[in-house]
Amino acid sequence: MHAAVLQCLGKLPRYEQFPDPVARDGEVVVQVLAASLKPVDKQLASGSHFASPREGPVICGTDGIGLLDAGTRVFFGASGRPYGAMAERTLVRREFCFPVPDNLSDEVAAALPNPGVSAWASLDFRAKLVPGESVLILGATGVTGKLAVKIAKLLGAARVVAAGRDQQALRTLPGLGADTTIRLDVSETEVVDAFASAVSSGIHVVIDYVWGRPVELLLSAMTRKEFAANTYETRLVQVGENAGPTISLPAAVLRSSALAILGTAGIPPREVLVDALQKVLAHAAGGDLSIDTEPVPLAEIEKAWQRESKGRRLVIIP
Ligand SMILES: NC(=O)c1ccc[n+]([C@@H]2O[C@H](COP(=O)([O-])OP(=O)(O)OC[C@H]3O[C@@H](n4cnc5c(N)ncnc54)[C@H](OP(=O)(O)O)[C@@H]3O)[C@@H](O)[C@H]2O)c1
Repeated sequence: MHAAVLQCLGKLPRYEQFPDPVARDGEVVVQVLAASLKPVDKQLASGSHFASPREGPVICGTDGIGLLDAGTRVFFGASGRPYGAMAERTLVRREFCFPVPDNLSDEVAAALPNPGVSAWASLDFRAKLVPGESVLILGATGVTGKLAVKIAKLLGAARVVAAGRDQQALRTLPGLGADTTIRLDVSETEVVDAFASAVSSGIHVVIDYVWGRPVELLLSAMTRKEFAANTYETRLVQVGENAGPTISLPAAVLRSSALAILGTAGIPPREVLVDALQKVLAHAAGGDLSIDTEPVPLAEIEKAWQRESKGRRLVIIP
């Protein structure tokens, strides 16, 4: 069969022949209909992700949409290495196959679950967002950030502050539920002032897709300059590092504010993922959640891998 084959870490995947998968105990062979190309696929293939494969060849792609033998259309995740989602067929554990609503296209059903479930689980499972709280999304202009804005509102956030650099994307965010937007493409003083204004009205949850300098500026805006009682905790959930892999964290930030920095904790428990997936798919089927996609033939994987896809997901079609 044909697949997006990565021969070794740091190289580009190529459209090549790969041996057909054979199901073992508890596994099924899925005929792939569509698989989205996500930041994590590139991080895994580059070797920069903590879960990068140790050796090649492997097939790229972590999840997608496909058909089981009986013809049932399912979203599948966690293909067993060396098999990945960007192939004509792949190998999947039976418990990681989930039926999808008929009114979702293959492209949307393939592209939405990863960022949608991530945003849902970050807000609900990790941040434990309570209806009525205020949320700041850092990197709200990205595919996952836009979904996080909308999902925060679906989960009952009273106020959503959305921060990003891309002005055109930023202008669309009030349509998704953002109450305030913050530009990250202006001077650092302006960014700190905007963060300080947001913080002064209370921010209970921060979902962070950028880390690096924007987070340092946020933390400086959160640092109190005098003794004062904190009336609420701010839970910052770290999800992505698009602005930089490290920050400088002055101790005064933690001593003067009630800040809790959380990670995404790897992969959440299965019941959390399944619950989030079902809610994301139901909201998508009902028209509340959407994602911009662009189909790309599997044969063009090498070019697609190197392309910009700002604000939308490329979806690989075998
Ligand atoms: N753990 C998971 O399951 C999971 C799932 C989904 C996403 N993620 C992670 O979350 C991150 C975002 O994913 P995505 O799908 O939203 O990606 P994306 O669509 O490429 O969005 C990237 C975001 O980062 C911002 N950004 C990029 N470089 C920046 C910089 N130097 N300074 C400030 N902002 C910068 C972009 O802002 P502008 O466009 O405004 O420039 C945009 O908001 C990635 O790191 C991804 O791996 C993790």
